[in-house]
Amino acid sequence: MTVTTEAEGVFAEPSATPLALLLLGQAADPHSERGVECPGDLPAPSDPDLVQRAAAAKAALGERVFVLGHHYQRDEVVQFADVTGDSFKLARDAAARPQAEYVVFCGVHFMAESADILTGPDQQVVLPDLAAGCSMADMATAEQVEQCWDTLTALAERDGRGIERVIPVSYMNSSADIKAFTGRHGGTICTSSNAERALRWAYEQGEQVLFLPDQHLGRNTAIRQLGFAPSDCVLYNPYKPNGGLTDAQLREAKLILWRGHCSVHGRFTEQCVDEVRELIPDVNVLVHPECRHEVVQKADYVGSTEYIIKTLEAAAPGTAWAIGTELNLVRRLADAHPDKRIVFLDKSVCYCSTMNRIDLPHLVWTLESLVAGKVVNRITVDPETARYSRLALEQMLALP
Ligand code: 13P
Ligand code: SF4
Repeated sequence: MTVTTEAEGVFAEPSATPLALLLLGQAADPHSERGVECPGDLPAPSDPDLVQRAAAAKAALGERVFVLGHHYQRDEVVQFADVTGDSFKLARDAAARPQAEYVVFCGVHFMAESADILTGPDQQVVLPDLAAGCSMADMATAEQVEQCWDTLTALAERDGRGIERVIPVSYMNSSADIKAFTGRHGGTICTSSNAERALRWAYEQGEQVLFLPDQHLGRNTAIRQLGFAPSDCVLYNPYKPNGGLTDAQLREAKLILWRGHCSVHGRFTEQCVDEVRELIPDVNVLVHPECRHEVVQKADYVGSTEYIIKTLEAAAPGTAWAIGTELNLVRRLADAHPDKRIVFLDKSVCYCSTMNRIDLPHLVWTLESLVAGKVVNRITVDPETARYSRLALEQMLALP
């Protein structure tokens, strides 16, 4: 559909992905991170020797391989990780191991892309299952973001102001194209552990921030940590002309939030918090900032996965905690702290299905292929995209 707008002339509605209902692992969608078939012969999940095979392949590779595991990975995978961490820590760890020939990233696609950007040209980054994407990252395509930027540029020109006053801040959970866009326009990447610092830095560089793609992290950080009013933020809908906003709204907002969210953290509701408080009256509610603002407002503590882990480590024995984040991590924390009562904030099961794509058969297949001299599922970012993405990632790593 083509629509004429007061802001920019013509708005072409982005076409919906033709593979919206694609089943994971059954075909490929070149425009998103979904549905990529695994090219290899995977060992059977029932193979009783999987643990021993993974250990043997890892030992054979020795220092040549570095295995990173995000906190949301399954236990069966985490046991083989050289380091675990949130997306910020893993980006730093990946950059700090130049001697490793192979970096096996047990996480999702955007994390492996970031690792490829931050590692040396002789290092090869591998994602054990290419279907391990992120639905949030898919919510901001390069085409949509460029269109948004054109809209903002046209408005700035009509107002006689420079577009330089708008600083893009992009969450790590975005494609390399979006990171490159951010670097090209003088912005920074952030993660859930440094979003406050990233936003403060951005407001020192300009007057307005375009925050991509997680509206909740942006809103929660701005309101809770920077003291913004909800009315300082507007929500930009890439499927509507002018983002569904008037020129005045776009002009006056301090923070333009992209309409994206995490499908896992978006499941937690205010009702979940009310119910757990009724069930366990002295419970501490601890949630990830990807949760909706109403949920975050009702919680006692809010922070990244690293923050959640550290808070529980420091908690007194006998205390009770309801955790609003991905279930693999919550279960692992409950096992690690038998002296505390740790429950999942939602009543229903809530894994990140794409994180869970990486399992022991895929890890064994990846490591054994490397032992045989075959690099499978390599993740590469083209040099031009990598150059600008690196600018934005390095800006994040240099944040005060
Ligand atoms: P962090 O790793 O930054 O806590 O983010 C959680 C997440 O959703 C990763 O995909
Ligand atoms: Fe993406 Fe959410 Fe899964 Fe993280 S938990 S990879 S943001 S869908």
